[in-house]
Amino acid sequence: MIDVLVVGIGEYVTGLSGEGVAKSDKSFGVIALSLFDMRDRGMVGEIHLAGRDAKRFELIREHFETNLKSAYPALDTSFEAHPKEGFSDEAYREALGKMPEGSCVMVFTPDDTHFKIAKEALEAGMHVLVAKPLVKTTEEHMALQRLAKEKGLLLMLEVHKRFDPIYADAVDQIRTFGDFSLMHSYMSQPKTQLDTFAGWAGISSDISYYLNAHHIDLLCWAVQDFARPVSVVATASTGVADRKLGREVEDTITLTVQWKNLHSGALGTSVHTASWIAPPSDVHSQQRFFYMGHRGEVTIDQAHRGYGISTDEQGYKSANPLFMKYTPRDGRFAGQQGYGYRSIETFVRSSDELARTPEKLAAFNQELPTIENTLNVTRILEAGRRSLYEGRVIVLLGESKMA
Ligand SMILES: NC(=O)c1ccc[n+]([C@@H]2O[C@H](COP(=O)([O-])OP(=O)(O)OC[C@H]3O[C@@H](n4cnc5c(N)ncnc54)[C@H](O)[C@@H]3O)[C@@H](O)[C@H]2O)c1
Repeated sequence: MIDVLVVGIGEYVTGLSGEGVAKSDKSFGVIALSLFDMRDRGMVGEIHLAGRDAKRFELIREHFETNLKSAYPALDTSFEAHPKEGFSDEAYREALGKMPEGSCVMVFTPDDTHFKIAKEALEAGMHVLVAKPLVKTTEEHMALQRLAKEKGLLLMLEVHKRFDPIYADAVDQIRTFGDFSLMHSYMSQPKTQLDTFAGWAGISSDISYYLNAHHIDLLCWAVQDFARPVSVVATASTGVADRKLGREVEDTITLTVQWKNLHSGALGTSVHTASWIAPPSDVHSQQRFFYMGHRGEVTIDQAHRGYGISTDEQGYKSANPLFMKYTPRDGRFAGQQGYGYRSIETFVRSSDELARTPEKLAAFNQELPTIENTLNVTRILEAGRRSLYEGRVIVLLGESKMA
């Protein structure tokens, strides 16, 4: 059994966004609920949640007591809150001081805070899981990579699409198609989500870091042994988010990445588009991609699983319980097979295993999405942001493989 500290108490952790219960597909959140269930299963010991404002925990407890308990009456939703009173940007430090070394720390705060919090957690001797995008710059990525290595700790990136059985199969297929030729990916969220992200959208991060991170990670993972990115150019669309938030914010960002196949020298191209101005639709998030290799191609629409549900309250929806299955079975949570849940469970299990068999770290660093094998993801996302600022193609130098 391992203790867990979660830093960040927003939508992905609790299901509560700035205005109250999130109107997205995650009104029950993902992280806290998954951890409560893992504690019931005997995998997790203490659960600590660290935010900034002690008052926020009243709302969170009420949300868990009313909404989570109405679905899963027997679920234990207790946790230790930090800060206990007042407001502090550094309440997670008090929590870090209480955790035994080798515990789990999960960082689900705005993108520009990941580096500092992950670094302090590693320095305190914890295994760390960080929300995508892991960090914003290559320099930060390499600094954490050095630290994790020096300390012998696991630093994993939370990219749950890797645990989607269909995406994972696509990656295995792609590796049989020969050289990489072309990929198009698209991912969006509705413009209502801009209210949830009003605190940071266009200030400390952008929609490309937030959503393109997923498919760029998937491509880097799939082609890591045979292709490398050589340059990135980004373009943007504007006009909706800036009016809504009253500051400069891109609506949609497209990164075009030039790749080179390592053995043949043949060129490949990937085009990744992410937007947060989508209209309401039958899904919260559109997410799909097309990949073409020299000997095969694959098309996936992850948002539409051929599973439609219609109710008087919500109308028609394309459901995806493969991500998070919230519908209870016999009054209990029954979503242990969801890829949102499995991503968290894999990190918890792997961290726990390292306490008994530390020599497994090298294997985990190969198999899992870790700081060791995701450097190209950070390089592409950072180059995309720089390309928008500088209005030019950014050439990626060095690095012939994934890390
Ligand atoms: N919402 C999603 O669907 C989703 C999915 C996957 C990953 N993520 C990632 O998770 C992270 C958080 O996203 P979110 O949607 O939950 O955001 P959010 O804006 O709803 O919540 C962010 C939380 O971080 C807290 N925070 C900010 N600075 C802090 C600090 N110094 N110490 C402690 N807490 C601090 C805020 O108080 C807030 O509770 C982001 O990196 C995002 O990319 C979100």
